Amino acid sequence: MAASAKPRYLVYIVSAIAALSGLLFGFDTGIISGALLFIEKDFILSTELKELIVSSVLLGAMFGSLLGGHLTDRFGRRRLMLVIAGLFVFGTIIASMANQVSLILLGRLFIGVAIGIGSYTAPLYIAEISPFELRGALVSLNQFAITVGILCSYLINFTFANHSGSWRIMFGIGLIPALMLSIGMFFLPESPRWLIRQGAIDRAKKILQTLRNKPDVSEEVNYIQQSLQVKKASFKEIFSPTIRPVLFLGAILGFIQQATGINTIIYYAPTIFQMAGFQNIAGSILATVGIGIVNVLATVFAIFYLDKLGRRPLLLIGLLGMFFSLLGLSLAFTLHTDITRWIAMFCTFTYIISFAFSLGAILWLMIAEIFPLEIRGFAMGLAVFNCWLWNFIVSSTFLTLLNSVGPSQSFLIYAAMCVFSFVFCYYKTPETNGVTLEQIEQNIRNRMPLRAIGQPVMSETE
Ligand code: BGC
Repeated sequence: MAASAKPRYLVYIVSAIAALSGLLFGFDTGIISGALLFIEKDFILSTELKELIVSSVLLGAMFGSLLGGHLTDRFGRRRLMLVIAGLFVFGTIIASMANQVSLILLGRLFIGVAIGIGSYTAPLYIAEISPFELRGALVSLNQFAITVGILCSYLINFTFANHSGSWRIMFGIGLIPALMLSIGMFFLPESPRWLIRQGAIDRAKKILQTLRNKPDVSEEVNYIQQSLQVKKASFKEIFSPTIRPVLFLGAILGFIQQATGINTIIYYAPTIFQMAGFQNIAGSILATVGIGIVNVLATVFAIFYLDKLGRRPLLLIGLLGMFFSLLGLSLAFTLHTDITRWIAMFCTFTYIISFAFSLGAILWLMIAEIFPLEIRGFAMGLAVFNCWLWNFIVSSTFLTLLNSVGPSQSFLIYAAMCVFSFVFCYYKTPETNGVTLEQIEQNIRNRMPLRAIGQPVMSETE
């Protein structure tokens, strides 16, 4: 498939609008740590209630990812994106205007459901509208938006740190991207791949012609149609020996992204900095803003290099970087010297950089690439559910872990997870760069080993 010589601005704009759901994902998961400090001034909160307020979004996201997988396959990617945009608006209004804790919980639960569905519908939609040679960069826009959302939430937490009652504004600001997403999605086209699956070939062709900025899209349409020639996947086929390995790969990648400890830093960075010896609260929060900035910048690096260097090298190098950073963090906490805090801060930054250019972007990209079209939404939903489940487990046990075994041992546990992840990814993760989604699908149907499903299909078989 030759790429069009003319620039295809539209595909960038469409992807950027869909990625607003990633921005809300980052914003709404990041804002709670700051907002909670003020909510507890307005309401009487037990520890359990506080934990519930923090985890309500994660619980909603778990539910959303299970619920939405089937729905995106059934009703289409665009319609689901419109639904989640509505849920973001609705949830934000309820949470920011709440006059009782139960309404905050309800609003955050709605937002969580939207995040859960959006966390895979957006990358899925972008992967399906992208030309294959830009797919890595465009899908990673979603992760870029997540990191920008997290950074915005850190900045807002920092700005409003001394304004009482500001939790309403903190939540309420989320309404701006939520409305932009609602309006934007209204004008975006449906995924041409999903339309072809529904038999709406002419509509899909027209959309592809506009997106690719060329009149002849028959080759791409043929590819997609061919990939759909195989017998329809029934629910049973999802767990068949053909599909099972990729389902397993997606689920393990979701687990790895969370079990290697990213959200211990994203959600608890100020606590870690204070434990390391930075007594000043404002300083710790400012250093957290630094984490947010570095997270965005390293993701930009991933956007530029995922389609050039490939997914595997970045993934493996990133995991090594995360491993050594966690080892350094663990060591720092055994030293008890004056330089402990500086080593801890340095390692926290190298950890975030290593995560952002590897697992951060690659999880969402790969799970949008490796599943056959027939079951893509459902299978992604399962992988994403696992990701949210482990996000919930890791972030809700981190403080308990710190209290029981101390920071040094805790970070050692996450370092051990990096070793497992490296070995798994080395042996099982395919390189999916430079091939079409249909070629990947054909390799899966041909029962190629997991590592080889991203190789170009050699023969011209149908
Ligand atoms: C992860 C989030 C994490 C974020 C950090 C995302 O890919 O799924 O759990 O907070 O990256 O940038």
